[in-house]
Amino acid sequence: MKASTILNISLLQAAANLHLAKAANAEESPILLLSEDPTFHFEILGGLGQAIGGGSDIAPLLAAAKDIKVGDFETFAEVLFKLANETKAQALDPILAYDPINVRNTWFSVANYFRRADAFTKGNWDNPIIKEYWDEQLAAFNKGQAALPIPGDRLQIPSDNFTVEAIWYSAEKDKKKRPTLIVGNGYDAAQEDMYHIMVVHARALGWNVLTYEGPGQPTVRRSQDLGFIPDWERVVTPAIDYVLKEKADEVDTERLALYGNSMGGYLAARAAAFEPRLKAVLLNGGVYSVHDSYKAQLPAELLELYEAGKSEEFDQATLSLLDPNSTASTNIRWGIEHGLWAFKTKSPYDFFKKTEQYTLEGITDRIKMPVWVADCEFEGFFKGEPQRVVDALGDKATFHFFDGEAGYHTQSGAFQEMTRVIFGWLHQTLG
Ligand SMILES: *[C@@H]1O[C@H](CO)[C@@H](O)[C@H](O)[C@H]1NC(C)=O
Ligand SMILES: *[C@@H]1O[C@H](CO)[C@@H](O)[C@H](O)[C@H]1NC(C)=O
Ligand SMILES: *[C@@H]1O[C@H](CO)[C@@H](O)[C@H](O)[C@H]1NC(C)=O
Repeated sequence: MKASTILNISLLQAAANLHLAKAANAEESPILLLSEDPTFHFEILGGLGQAIGGGSDIAPLLAAAKDIKVGDFETFAEVLFKLANETKAQALDPILAYDPINVRNTWFSVANYFRRADAFTKGNWDNPIIKEYWDEQLAAFNKGQAALPIPGDRLQIPSDNFTVEAIWYSAEKDKKKRPTLIVGNGYDAAQEDMYHIMVVHARALGWNVLTYEGPGQPTVRRSQDLGFIPDWERVVTPAIDYVLKEKADEVDTERLALYGNSMGGYLAARAAAFEPRLKAVLLNGGVYSVHDSYKAQLPAELLELYEAGKSEEFDQATLSLLDPNSTASTNIRWGIEHGLWAFKTKSPYDFFKKTEQYTLEGITDRIKMPVWVADCEFEGFFKGEPQRVVDALGDKATFHFFDGEAGYHTQSGAFQEMTRVIFGWLHQTLG
């Protein structure tokens, strides 16, 4: 790094840290804070919200929240691991496990707590807990599933160059044709999260659901060592082929819809542009350009280096924010660490460059079906993006704004409101 371009790292860190001071303001928060660290608050709230679908208990997660420390990724993982491991001991207790149904939600909670424990672990790709915690969450989730009246089927659906990891959930055992929702996440969440958030509610309304993960997403990133790809039709089209062939007797093809969560708002829209068999699409929220959204979160000093194409300086300065002694906000540290891991690159510059391909520019005219586009009051990742998607889609789009206590990104902690709005729109649109 040339002396003339060395940044004042303390100034950079101070700038990055402003996000923390701003967002942790309890006065501005719509609900009680679960941590003074807004990113930890959001992470715990997301886990707690799964309680409505049998995926968590309340007090144990609140107790864990009490023990985590602002900005301390290691303690976060330790505290959540301890909760997960203790809860697992309960699920294994032969007196309690006399009937698998007695410990079904205990296993689901174990899985959820291991997923939360994994959230801030990507700083070191060689850290064995990245694999260990995930193996634990998969095994625990499968134990919970096995005790459901209609367990989901785990599927490996081949694509051109990789395998889509999916779970098929029939609404009922009777094999009648029913409406079917295909559910995908974005940057970081797992398909197992969506069981509690979405699938339980969908099944109660008579919908089948397929949840899936593609490259870059938690299980595929680990099991196939693949980072994100922008051409998401390579993930969704094979999944739809599979469902229409193997589940033909269960799927009402006139009521086949696709849902994209978080960065999945881009991924689902991209897939829909190449997938006329879909009759409706839901984007929570709308994401026109992943690159523009992530760039907007960079401190001005870093943005300047990026725009000037100074890749080495940009990498060095950005990586300094991840130093153990960094005071950069949890949101920035997590965003960069997770992004490098999920896009499978060690260079922050390369990561940001890669995201340039994740845009709806030039393809929105190919999206012919009705599209529901959500935005929310406290959106922190994709600010302004939903409106861009609505503008590009014109009268194909229905806009929904979540505010107040349902106003967090993807309605964290308010999944009842989220699902009743979504299924209201689906019913209105598809019958
Ligand atoms: C996890 O729990 C088991 C049984 O309760 C215990 O023996 C083990 O030491 C715990 N593991 C860790 C790493 O704390
Ligand atoms: C398949 O994956 C390999 C390695 O990741 C890559 O080089 C190749 O371009 C991919 N092929 C297609 C058709 O995407
Ligand atoms: C963090 O520590 C490294 C060396 O361990 C040092 O070079 C760097 O300047 C430190 N950063 C801050 C912000 O103190």
